[in-house]
Amino acid sequence: MRIGILGSGLMGGKLGTLFARSGHDVVFSYARSADKLKSLAKRAGHNARAGTPAEAAEDADALLVAVHWLRMDDVLKQAGELSGKVIVTCSLPMDAGNTGLVIGHTSSGAEELAKKVPKAKVVCAFNTVPSEVFFGVYEAKRKASRPSLVYCGDDAPSKGVAAELIRDVGFEAIDAGPLRIARYTEPFALLMGQLAYEGADGPELAYRFERYPG
Ligand SMILES: NC(=O)c1ccc[n+]([C@@H]2O[C@H](COP(=O)([O-])OP(=O)(O)OC[C@H]3O[C@@H](n4cnc5c(N)ncnc54)[C@H](OP(=O)(O)O)[C@@H]3O)[C@@H](O)[C@H]2O)c1
Repeated sequence: MRIGILGSGLMGGKLGTLFARSGHDVVFSYARSADKLKSLAKRAGHNARAGTPAEAAEDADALLVAVHWLRMDDVLKQAGELSGKVIVTCSLPMDAGNTGLVIGHTSSGAEELAKKVPKAKVVCAFNTVPSEVFFGVYEAKRKASRPSLVYCGDDAPSKGVAAELIRDVGFEAIDAGPLRIARYTEPFALLMGQLAYEGADGPELAYRFERYPG
């Protein structure tokens, strides 16, 4: 596939490199320096190149959006017309200081993005709660009990590796079952972020009820 990376920082840089090394054509775009994009592309191998957001979007089968929420409008503007494109977003709707969610409880980053580019096909992925969100929570709980982290999947050996990594970074790994469980956990990613931020004052629970057409 031709994959355009809009935002080539930690997420875009890493995922774009993985995509390029697994055989996809990748265009890295949107960083503060063109040299950074070039060296990223060089390290990612011969399938990768550096470009502008418009070049990344042109002819792309899929786009990965991995910018801070505050940069979203700018990167979309630079990318140009995105009607019909598949846009995979990992951008979380955080405020400038990364201390709070700018939306939440009633919407998600992917839904807000879908409103900005209504004719694109927006997919929400890799939207794990960033680990740094949990540092404070973990510090507070280090001596008592370990905070839990739920994972799910269908491949037993992969799950073994995931559980080990989760334990390595200090969480209790809880196997939630097969991959199909993921569809129930996604809406809770934002909630978990909010809980982590507000943990000091006790958890706040929000429920979201929606009615889907049909
Ligand atoms: N990191 C995680 O673990 C993680 C996990 C899940 C979701 N997310 C979400 O994914 C999104 C991206 O996260 P990230 O950690 O990859 O962020 P990041 O490392 O800060 O990457 C953002 C990219 O945007 C570029 N950028 C920022 N301001 C710019 C400007 N004025 N002009 C041009 N380019 C600019 C940065 O350029 P430079 O490369 O020059 O800095 C960087 O390439 C965020 O919404 C985050 O919440 C992150």
